[in-house]
Amino acid sequence: GGTPEEQAFQKRIDDGIKIEPKDWMPEGYRKTLVRQIGQHAHSEVVGQLPEGNWITRAPTLERKAILLAKVQDEAGHGLYLYCAAETLGVSRDEMTEQLLAGKSKYSSIFNYPTLSWADIGAIGWLVDGAAIMNQVQLQRCSYGPYSRAMIRICKEESFHQRQGFDILRVLCQGSDEQKEMAQDAMNRWWWPSLMMFGPSDKDSVHTAQSMRWGIKQATNDDLRQKFVDQTVPQADWLGLKVPDPELKWNEDKGGYDFGEPDWNEFFNVVKGNGPCNKERLEARRKAWDDGAWFRDGLMAHAEKKRAAKVA
Ligand code: ACO
Repeated sequence: GGTPEEQAFQKRIDDGIKIEPKDWMPEGYRKTLVRQIGQHAHSEVVGQLPEGNWITRAPTLERKAILLAKVQDEAGHGLYLYCAAETLGVSRDEMTEQLLAGKSKYSSIFNYPTLSWADIGAIGWLVDGAAIMNQVQLQRCSYGPYSRAMIRICKEESFHQRQGFDILRVLCQGSDEQKEMAQDAMNRWWWPSLMMFGPSDKDSVHTAQSMRWGIKQATNDDLRQKFVDQTVPQADWLGLKVPDPELKWNEDKGGYDFGEPDWNEFFNVVKGNGPCNKERLEARRKAWDDGAWFRDGLMAHAEKKRAAKVA
């Protein structure tokens, strides 16, 4: 159905041809992308905060250098993504204002605190591992700028995931106290990591249309399953216990059965009531306000240069 324009648009998507910024697109497609890419960009930027918390306390100089590089990568990812969203006619300032007004979301996962050094390992291994599982399919997104941003971001995320795994590898081979730290981090980050994939398919309002438009290539539940199947053997290798009594290999489906995440907790965190929501938004607001003089200076400089050129 739909207008001839909409039909031609859908045919392009079905044929696997990328949509580029100047191409015609339905308003719903544009809005969905602005929402998703905007949320994704905010997640990268807010995601710097829990890890930034440990830069000054990393256990060795080498770990500190790695963590610094990783957190800087996240800032870069935020910038590519804001640029990709800007091609859809929304400015970075507008997106930031929506975030600060609580109108645009960012990933639920970044509203949990980082209580120990092992949490930095768990974030890299589980959180970035979940992020990659989701982002690998987004590399094939029908919208060109988002797809290309994802290709680059996935390469860097793979390094993030491995550095996290390596932190936990060292802890798991260490003293009893270090092993306990690693297990405690696993216990706290496992369920929130599964929630990153979004609500179960029956409660996911956007998935069906986003898949028809080729924005998403897989459902939330399918990606969550793939993540569990990939991660459980890694936990076994580390000697960490997955905190899910229902976890069980299912020979018939060739994957694990696992318990249901606490969706009340998920929706509550998304609504703004997680352990760190207020702190995270406050930090972003302060950064935005503190940077106002710098943005003003850049604008004044650009204006001066433009005037000089005209003269
Ligand atoms: N945290 C916060 N909000 C979420 C989450 C989550 N983990 N999962 C879903 N939601 C929100 C959706 O944004 C949507 O809200 P909205 O209508 O107000 O925008 C609502 O819950 C319903 O969910 P869905 O219908 O399933 O939404 P969608 O089809 O957009 O799927 C998903 C959600 C999978 C997160 C998708 O948007 C996506 O793939 N985004 C890009 C990846 C991303 O943002 N990753 C961020 C974390 S990774 C990192 O930054 C290191």
